[in-house]
Amino acid sequence: MANHWEEVQKKLDSIREKQLFRETKVYQGIDFCSNDYMGLTSNPRMLEFFQSRKNLYPFGSTASRLVRGNTSSMDRFESEFVHFVEGEAALLVSTGFTANFGLLDSIAAPDCFVFTDRLNHASILDGIRISGAKKKYYNHLDLNHLRTLLEKADLEDPNRKHKRIVVTETLFSMDGDSPDLKTLLSLKKEFGFVLVLDEAHTLGIYGPSGKGLVFRDLTLSEIQSIDYRVYTLGKSLGLEGGIIVTKKIGRDHLVNVMRPFIFSTAPLPMVSELASFALSLLSSMDKERETLLTLAKELKNSLEENGFVLTNSTSHIIPVLLTTEKEALFFANSLQERGLDVRAIRPPTVSTPRLRISLNAKLGLSDIQTLVKELILIREKWNSL
Ligand SMILES: Cc1ncc(COP(=O)(O)O)c(C=O)c1O
Repeated sequence: MANHWEEVQKKLDSIREKQLFRETKVYQGIDFCSNDYMGLTSNPRMLEFFQSRKNLYPFGSTASRLVRGNTSSMDRFESEFVHFVEGEAALLVSTGFTANFGLLDSIAAPDCFVFTDRLNHASILDGIRISGAKKKYYNHLDLNHLRTLLEKADLEDPNRKHKRIVVTETLFSMDGDSPDLKTLLSLKKEFGFVLVLDEAHTLGIYGPSGKGLVFRDLTLSEIQSIDYRVYTLGKSLGLEGGIIVTKKIGRDHLVNVMRPFIFSTAPLPMVSELASFALSLLSSMDKERETLLTLAKELKNSLEENGFVLTNSTSHIIPVLLTTEKEALFFANSLQERGLDVRAIRPPTVSTPRLRISLNAKLGLSDIQTLVKELILIREKWNSL
């Protein structure tokens, strides 16, 4: 049997050789990479609220939510959130990853077909994997391909012994693009599948009061026919946590079977306390939403005018595609040296190396201009190497 540490060393050497070695770094510089889209992590009103909350003591939640870990603030946040996104019931869990992973594992089984966009987040893909369901990938955003796969499934399994589940992000975190939600909902009507939508990157930014992309693109009755909506507290809400919106019986089911919910310590009570406050701030941030989308348009136009290759982003996440891992690292490191915090995203997270530029409402037009100027200078340097 090979020595474990030799094996680990070999694996790391191979990762390094491919320019794929990753390490944790303390952040510095202007934020062009986080998911703190509304700047709530450093909002002075959040800090004031935190300091005013004597009932945040004791700090720890002490146990799972089914034992002693549930607090009134968690119940309250769930009902406020469900009211905000006009659902029926919600379940708060410790992270968005847990939400997707635990949800897919709970609703899928080896006798299910799960149709997944090829580029869905790891938490979705891993949840499907652990459930043992038959995973059916459709090409990124290609709902014609999804239709073909659904038709094929109907031919193979006319008596519908296999439950059908379709799962997609509504805004892809590494590409900044979105599926056509209207078409997806009409496919749901036609083929009768269970639909899971991950709204992680849209909450707080799109739709009226930042209720999410489904509120921009769908009618209320269409929204209410979505079986599960997954959100995270870790992005626009500026905290950490995950929340699943579903029917009341859907919530009861998850409470009874979802392993990462049942067998893990509840989130800190202060998270739900702060989340309620963050949600109330978020809903009144129309000005910030407008700023963010204006900045995004500006950056996209400016990068395109200057010949950078972008994804088909339609959002505040604007990835710049590069050819090699080495090039992506060179650009990211050079930007960081100049005080601009942009990170390289490389395989296996994505197939094409890129700079994932994500904007937030605290940035100004001059930050965008500086970023583009520096990118041009770095490109000149890279081309002259
Ligand atoms: C689309 C999507 N879903 C879920 C998650 C996981 O959420 P969290 O960071 O709260 O675990 C992420 C995180 O990056 C994500 O991009």
